Amino acid sequence: MIILSTDKKSLASSTRGHGLVMTGECHIGGTLSFEVPIRLASTTTMNECSIGFMSYLGKGTVIKRSKIGRYCAIGERVKIGAPNHPHDWLSIHPFQYDGVDYFRPYEEWSIAQGLRYRGNSATTVVGNDVWIGDNVLIKQGLNIGDGAVIAAGAIVTKDVLPYQIIGGVPARFIKNRFPDEIARRLCKLRWWNKQIPPNSGIPFDDVIAQIDKIVARFSEFEDLCPTQLRLAIDGSRYSLSKREVVSVDGA
Ligand SMILES: CC(C)(COP(=O)(O)OP(=O)(O)OC[C@H]1O[C@@H](n2cnc3c(N)ncnc32)[C@H](O)[C@@H]1OP(=O)(O)O)[C@@H](O)C(=O)NCCC(=O)NCCS
Repeated sequence: MIILSTDKKSLASSTRGHGLVMTGECHIGGTLSFEVPIRLASTTTMNECSIGFMSYLGKGTVIKRSKIGRYCAIGERVKIGAPNHPHDWLSIHPFQYDGVDYFRPYEEWSIAQGLRYRGNSATTVVGNDVWIGDNVLIKQGLNIGDGAVIAAGAIVTKDVLPYQIIGGVPARFIKNRFPDEIARRLCKLRWWNKQIPPNSGIPFDDVIAQIDKIVARFSEFEDLCPTQLRLAIDGSRYSLSKREVVSVDGA
């Protein structure tokens, strides 16, 4: 285990050498498991989160209790796993169940009577190769399929199927990235589990016409086995340790 800087401002310089690139002040609450490398730009992560190989998250993005796959491009000011308040209780306010940490030092409000609100325990799963535009909100507990695209400004209230492009408020189907047969073959191929160099000669930009060639060449590539790390905060002390398997297994 490696003990990192306890100061948020210098956390970025101490994680960079370990494959966690932070371009801005990040707030990591709970634990963050990741595959090396990933990039976070002034991002907040809360509770248990995991992020797969080569994924990057834009400025002001907040993820809570979420699993994010490999090769995802996540825009700015995105909220994934947005928490709920109870709307069928006397009040929507957390004073009923959390006590209130928000209004310290008003200690009398921090005494809860033992009620638990269980509406915030679901994990949100974002598959592999998912593009999420700026200003998107994804409700907690949803499953965003591999290869999906979420248009800028969307509010996502339902699961998204693989390779669908959705958008709007609430988000609706816009179109498919590929014809059904191609999407089905890509889902089966699970290319993100292979180590594909950018100069591999794979026709990245001609998937529909050359799908047979792409599929045929995949057995040439090694399985991708990136280093898996876990960043945790305990009190004011950050630590980094090796961990097992982060990858998101299909949606
Ligand atoms: C979703 C997106 C990829 C679609 O791009 P495109 O393939 O060029 O699609 P088009 O512009 O032809 O639009 C197709 C349809 O989707 C609609 N649409 C496009 N963007 C939309 C959005 N953000 N919200 C709702 N509908 C949208 C269009 O109005 C059009 O509808 P129509 O068929 O009824 O006319 C793009 O609009 C988008 O949102 N990109 C994200 C940009 C961003 O946030 N980048 C940050 C960097 S990560």
